[in-house]
Amino acid sequence: RLKAISDAISVVPNFPKPGIMFQDITTLVSDHKVFKHTVDIFVERYRDMGISVVAGVEARGFIFAPPIALAIGAKFIPLRKPGKLPGDVISEAYELEYGSDCLEMRVAGAVKQGERALVVDDLVATGGTLSAAIRLLERVGAEVVECACVIGLPEVKGRRLLDGKPLYVLVEPRQ
Ligand code: PRP
Ligand code: MG
Repeated sequence: RLKAISDAISVVPNFPKPGIMFQDITTLVSDHKVFKHTVDIFVERYRDMGISVVAGVEARGFIFAPPIALAIGAKFIPLRKPGKLPGDVISEAYELEYGSDCLEMRVAGAVKQGERALVVDDLVATGGTLSAAIRLLERVGAEVVECACVIGLPEVKGRRLLDGKPLYVLVEPRQ
C-alpha cells in the first residue's frame, strides 16, 4: 500500500531549477484516502512510543506533522524559517547547495526538558534540514525519538540513521 502513496506524488521536472525533479506532494494530500493512509501509517508507528512533541519543519512538514500530533495526543511545535517566530527563539543553520538557511524554535514554554519528540518533514535529501531540527530540540533538552518523512532519497532511505537518530521514510522519490 506504499505504492498508492508513491503513485499519488507527482513529479515536476526542472522545478524550481533546471535538473531538479520536484516531488510534488500536493497531489497526495488532495486525495483524501491517500493522505489519510499516509498519516495513519505514522500514527500506527508512533502512538504508543510516549511521544509528547511532534515538531514539523516549515513549510511542507507543516502539512503532515499536525494531523499526526493530534492523533497521537502530542503537542505540535513549528520549526520555522528565520524571522517568523516572535519572542525568544533559538536558531540552527544548515547548508544548502548554494549558501545556507536556518530554522528557529520558540524557547518559552514550548518543549520541556526530557520530553520525547518526533520530527516530521515531507522529504529528506541531504538531511541538513532534519539535522538542524534535531539540534534545536536537543538544545532544549528534548529526546529525539525518530525523524519521519514521506519521501527519502535511496541513499538516505537505506541509511535509516541521521545524526545517530533513527530515520523512518515511506517511499523513494519518483523519477
Ligand atoms: C525541502 C523539503 C525538506 C528539505 C529537504 O524544503 O521540504 O524540508 O528541502 O532537504 P535536505 O534534506 O537536503 O535538507 P525547502 O526548504 O526546499 O522548502 P519548503 O519550505 O517548501 O519545505
Ligand atoms: Mg521543507
